[in-house]
Amino acid sequence: MSEKIYAAFRSIGAYVPKKVLTNQDLEKMVDTSDEWIVKRTGIKERHIAEDNESTSDMATKASEIAIKRAGLSAKDIDLVVCATVTPDYFNMPSTACLISDKLGIKNVQAFDISAACSGFVYALSVAKAFIESAMKKNVLVIGAEKFSSIIDWNDRNTCVLFGDGAGAAVIGATTNKEEAFIDVHASADGSYWDFLITPAPGSVNPATHAAIEEGLQFVKMKGNETFKLAVKTLTKDVKEILAKNNIEGKDIPHFVPHQANYRIINAVGNALNMSENQVVLTVHKYGNTSAASIPMAINDIYESGKLKSKELMLLDTFGGGLTWASALIPFAPKEND
Ligand code: ACO
Repeated sequence: MSEKIYAAFRSIGAYVPKKVLTNQDLEKMVDTSDEWIVKRTGIKERHIAEDNESTSDMATKASEIAIKRAGLSAKDIDLVVCATVTPDYFNMPSTACLISDKLGIKNVQAFDISAACSGFVYALSVAKAFIESAMKKNVLVIGAEKFSSIIDWNDRNTCVLFGDGAGAAVIGATTNKEEAFIDVHASADGSYWDFLITPAPGSVNPATHAAIEEGLQFVKMKGNETFKLAVKTLTKDVKEILAKNNIEGKDIPHFVPHQANYRIINAVGNALNMSENQVVLTVHKYGNTSAASIPMAINDIYESGKLKSKELMLLDTFGGGLTWASALIPFAPKEND
């Protein structure tokens, strides 16, 4: 009988655009204040991509780092999955195809996942399934967003919240159970579809002059309703994944939540009795980068030397759809062969 194959989180990489947009900059653009933004969200600044810098450009840079850190080259990758709601092109081609081309990956399956902020963890669940079924060996999983491209810079309800960036991970096959993903749980409730929406372009509202003039291409969010549901759903979800796997909150060295709002992170962290040093926080410097937020946060703890081999990460996320997901995954860089 052949040995069981598991998915292992081999490496992480990220790309953060250079340009910084501070709360003070936003004070000059809309009726807002640094005090309001910090108090309600924890965000102090966010990074914004250049006009000629696309989601796939940022994703490619993050991917190059992740592939190198995994000790691999582009030719070793046999599946490319990109989570994004700000693709280079809204209908086709997929951003994953563009990233593959920029990386020189040819004749390999590539596709996008649309699950808003939950996209990266959704993509991890896909990588796990492909690897455990022995269909693929080295999956490149990307979360990348140019959220600034769908922001109405006159709408204070949304323009203060989001930023741009990309993160990527290589998920590899292993027969060593100690390296294996412990669990990934991804879910959705489409009845809340209108809580977070870009109404155009799409089959409901094609890209007509009228649609653009109405600003339907910009993100709209029922912020307060989303906030309440996020706290309730995430608290239940992380408690469930921990209980199912007989792990306690105190035993998690790295709780990496989606970085939308400090108050949501705090509420969920408190419900798990997490101490401050267990919770990874990047929302103050990147804002909400949607699907890129979790891999960018993992990259931060990796580059600062806090994330060590075999240490466990608890990921949790919530976003448009509505979608949510959580995961228990050890960091498992490949030991020297
Ligand atoms: N500056 C100043 N005042 C503002 C601003 C601003 N930038 N934005 C809103 N306000 C005002 C509102 O107009 C409102 O004024 P009113 O009381 O006179 O009507 C007041 O502040 C309070 O507004 P709320 O929306 O109730 O504020 P809340 O405390 O809920 O904070 C926020 C808003 C930050 C958006 C919060 O609700 C939130 O974080 N929601 C969840 C976001 C999230 O997790 N989204 C999912 C992931 S995103 C994705 O999937 C792409």
